[in-house]
Amino acid sequence: ALPFDLAGRRVLISAGGTREPLDPVRFLGNRSSGKQGFALARAATHRGADVTLVAGTATGLEAPSGVERVDITTAEQLSTEITTRAADADVVIMAAAVADFRPVHVATAKIKKEPGADATPTPIELATNPDILRGLVAARSAGDVAADTVIVGFAAETGDERGGVLDHGREKLARKGCDLLVVNAVGDGKAFGTDDNTGWVLASTGAETALPLGSKTLMASRILDAVTALLSGRRTD
Ligand code: C5P
Repeated sequence: ALPFDLAGRRVLISAGGTREPLDPVRFLGNRSSGKQGFALARAATHRGADVTLVAGTATGLEAPSGVERVDITTAEQLSTEITTRAADADVVIMAAAVADFRPVHVATAKIKKEPGADATPTPIELATNPDILRGLVAARSAGDVAADTVIVGFAAETGDERGGVLDHGREKLARKGCDLLVVNAVGDGKAFGTDDNTGWVLASTGAETALPLGSKTLMASRILDAVTALLSGRRTD
């Protein structure tokens, strides 16, 4: 039986990838399927949470019933939706793959190839997107997000040896300042788009939990176990 240990908790989850438009038909994007974030939303609902799912590209995925779903396209839209909702959340889980950069200029008409055989393409000028996760941690320090809100980040790292992926994860946990960081290895067909996942949950306390290879559903429940361990002892209103 599932523990009903998230009853009454408000859980805000981002899922899927963002798309940064170049023109009406093209964008910069990533391979995130949204599956892990949707699995988290489902698992949290089953454990009694009141879930809001802010979803980017998550092709063909349906939000579990009872979940409030908000669809976004760009990182800036995701930032707006998450930051305005975080003040009401007990837990924020940033499972979305957020584009780090966006094109500065978005053409209103489809960009054409320059005529002529030796035409060279114009470089795409990029601007940096806000780091939503770091923004949440800063907002918590500033008192705009409750001090006891649990903030969870994800790290998709490439690297073969287990040490490389873990080291990146530890460094990222410290840099982002979140309470938990879920690390998973990506590339070579791992994680993105697949149904199985593996990795570690790293806590700011120093605790590190290995996640056995398994379904994203299993992974979601392990991640929520780590979240509820942090929540117990915090407020229950
Ligand atoms: O730095 P990196 O993109 O690897 O960090 C991944 C984590 O940070 C994920 O939880 C992702 O949702 C979050 N992130 C964010 N805003 C960004 C980039 C990443 O919140 N602009």
